Amino acid sequence: MEQTIVNIPVGILYKFMMAVFIGSGISEKDAKTCADVLIKSDLRGIESHGIGRLRMYYDRLKAGLIEPSATPIIVRESPTTAVIDGNHGMGMVIAVQSMQIAIDKARQYGMGAVAVRNSTHFGIDGYYPLMAIEQNMIGMSFTNARPCVSPTHGTQPTLGTNPISFGAPTDEECPFLYDGATSITQRGKIEVLSRAEKPVPAGWVIDQNNRPMLDADQILDEILVDNAALLPLGGENELLGGHKGYCLSTIVEILSSALQNGAFLFQLSGLNKENQPTRFRVGHFFMAMDIASFLPPEEFKHNIGELLRILRSTRKAPGQERIYTAGEKEFEMEKNVQANGVPINANLHKDILFLQQELNLPGFIFAD
Ligand SMILES: NC(=O)c1ccc[n+]([C@@H]2O[C@H](COP(=O)([O-])OP(=O)(O)OC[C@H]3O[C@@H](n4cnc5c(N)ncnc54)[C@H](O)[C@@H]3O)[C@@H](O)[C@H]2O)c1
Repeated sequence: MEQTIVNIPVGILYKFMMAVFIGSGISEKDAKTCADVLIKSDLRGIESHGIGRLRMYYDRLKAGLIEPSATPIIVRESPTTAVIDGNHGMGMVIAVQSMQIAIDKARQYGMGAVAVRNSTHFGIDGYYPLMAIEQNMIGMSFTNARPCVSPTHGTQPTLGTNPISFGAPTDEECPFLYDGATSITQRGKIEVLSRAEKPVPAGWVIDQNNRPMLDADQILDEILVDNAALLPLGGENELLGGHKGYCLSTIVEILSSALQNGAFLFQLSGLNKENQPTRFRVGHFFMAMDIASFLPPEEFKHNIGELLRILRSTRKAPGQERIYTAGEKEFEMEKNVQANGVPINANLHKDILFLQQELNLPGFIFAD
């Protein structure tokens, strides 16, 4: 079915996000942080984690699964490390504060590492290394997530899509920013296909008997009852390296739970023993490294810039016009979205109108 597409200007969408967060009980300062992370996703063309997730945050706040006014606290600290308890607040607020602590420690001692427990979904992983890049630092960010990925040789949704993000400044306008799930795809992309009423490509998701699943709505339902699993990076077996995606995901799960005595794997299902919705207890891990502790930042930026330029200039495969380096596509998309607005399909438009009505926000006009 064809979708109606509306382009909503970034500024209007941002104000709407703010209004929904404030209407859900979040302070203006924290709502700004949440909207900053969400709009960054839309700006970078990551449809799965921007306005498309606003309804999810609203529903979770309304259900009491996220505490709108929680204050994250430091429960343990050394000059270069900290453990934070997020107290079930908004993941973006907890993550921005935690990454800032890592950056402050790195500025003073060269490196900072912060482990977080009892947090909630924090949006795009790449937002947080971008904070370090702005300070001439290397940034890394990891998070665990609801179980939906099977281990190699298994079919049970056990690990989260557990993204890894690594960012560093270069001598170009576009920084190097890798930001991706450790599974072939992530739950948000299945949601995007569901909203667009399109099939899921074969090889992304299996059922409990290891058969491919293609129906996005069915997958989203069956994951919740253990009957469908996303596959780790590399796919269903060892031939194309599925075991490496599985192991990378396990590393993210360890960093996001073990150092902070946090929850992991099935404990993140969002359901309690009585199968009732409960708080997610997501964990994160952030690192910042001050480049100036190793060498003058301009030398580092030149080194990494050269490295990336060589990669892009190498021989192209037949039919391919361009070799990319991580972050380039999203960086270019940001200019396009700033100029043309965020594309919204018919089903997402319905979600926006629903939120507008629920929170009585008549001031916004989302024409179709
Ligand atoms: N918070 C969570 O629980 C959670 C979980 C999973 C994913 N996510 C987010 O979802 C978003 C999308 O994740 P994804 O796995 O679909 O990412 P993706 O597959 O769209 O992109 C991953 C990375 O690959 C780079 N890339 C793309 N094409 C490239 C090419 N040809 N050459 C070199 N690099 C290239 C991109 O710049 C990006 O850094 C991310 O922002 C991620 O953080 C969040």
